[in-house]
Amino acid sequence: MNYNEAYAKLEQCGQLHILKYYHELTQEQQNALLTEIEETDFSVLKLAEKQSIPKRGMISPIPAMPLSEIEKQRQRFEAAGIKALQEGKAAAVLLAGGMGTRLGSDKPKGMYNIGITKELYIFERMIANLMETVRTAGTKLHLFIMTSDKNHTQTTEFFAEKQYFGYDRNYIHFFKQEMAPASDYNGLALMEEKWKIATSPNGNGGWFKSMAGSGMLDIIKMHGIEYLNVFAVDNVLQRIADPVFLGAVIEQNYACGSKVIRKVSPEEKVGVMCLENNHPSIVEYYELTEEMRYEKTTDGDLAYNFGVILNYLFRVDQLESLLRNTLPYHVAEKKIPYIDQNGNSVVPKETNGYKYELFILDMISMLDTCLPFEVVREKEFAPIKNKTGVDSVESAQKLLQQNGIEL
Ligand code: UD1
Repeated sequence: MNYNEAYAKLEQCGQLHILKYYHELTQEQQNALLTEIEETDFSVLKLAEKQSIPKRGMISPIPAMPLSEIEKQRQRFEAAGIKALQEGKAAAVLLAGGMGTRLGSDKPKGMYNIGITKELYIFERMIANLMETVRTAGTKLHLFIMTSDKNHTQTTEFFAEKQYFGYDRNYIHFFKQEMAPASDYNGLALMEEKWKIATSPNGNGGWFKSMAGSGMLDIIKMHGIEYLNVFAVDNVLQRIADPVFLGAVIEQNYACGSKVIRKVSPEEKVGVMCLENNHPSIVEYYELTEEMRYEKTTDGDLAYNFGVILNYLFRVDQLESLLRNTLPYHVAEKKIPYIDQNGNSVVPKETNGYKYELFILDMISMLDTCLPFEVVREKEFAPIKNKTGVDSVESAQKLLQQNGIEL
């Protein structure tokens, strides 16, 4: 794209300020900026005007398959799951494109050392958890790892340096997610440098589109993989490709499944499962209405009690049908470093604009059926979101130790 073309594109979407410093840039910086303008979809920034959260349908509570019922059928589910694993029908997808800023580290979250007496990295824990399934099923599984422009090189180099924590390199596939521009409150793109638009990973909802776009779907097809277990990097007790969960979804022919826990408090920061127009759906924690957050059943339980731990199982053929649909963008207020009117770098202390993100949880309502599958919180949910306090390194370390893991 040349300067005139870039000018025309920006003029059309009201973002001409991006070229403000163009004539004082080096040739190399000018080229970098033109390429970025060409590749960026500025249409999302229109959402700033509406400051909208996606409109919802009629919401009502959803029942989950409770632990007691799972226990009764455990053996059968597990056998079905192990059979599918041995037939090579399932693979795992690790979502690690996020920035992990809440931990106060500028490295990928998975590189965080959570060990006490020895080094133990979050990525290492993920591989150890995956190995459990490998041992149970007696077969290797493909692991797809989503990174982003912000952390791809660091992540891949780290895995190489650590020799993939003993996992077979041929079974690990990295792919990058897409980026989205960030803006001020008026929807004007912020600049990170005079030659660089402030962008951030576009949320965890674009994972399958990015897999398809980066050739991963060919690998999936080549190996006859029919189910993908997608999970977050930050839950160090994450059970990966859990045969019982896999077996339950396969046996009962669900399009997808979602592991859920009972919330500890109405305020817990987990998305909740519900029915939306009588169809399984998920509302993210910061988009819950006060009414939904505190509503009780006649038994005194929270009506929306099942929180998602970001461990989903999807049927690949169903995901492919989703490629034709578009997910809604969610607009979140964030602190976004930027270049001000005078060309100075500013690291804001307060929120100063919006980031635009797609959410994996929106895929659930687009599929025909979903199994909410209850798991034991203390055994499967140790999220690391913050440095200290709730959902922190400390709380996760405690939970790991309770589960017999040496730190
Ligand atoms: C997430 C879930 C929430 C769930 C909670 C459980 C979403 C949108 N939110 O909340 O419903 O109850 O976990 O702990 O799913 N990621 C990317 N790329 C991105 C953004 C995120 O790969 O652009 C990854 C992160 O690396 C992480 C996961 O997605 O593995 C969740 O990240 P985050 O956005 O921090 O979600 P939470 O607020 O923790």
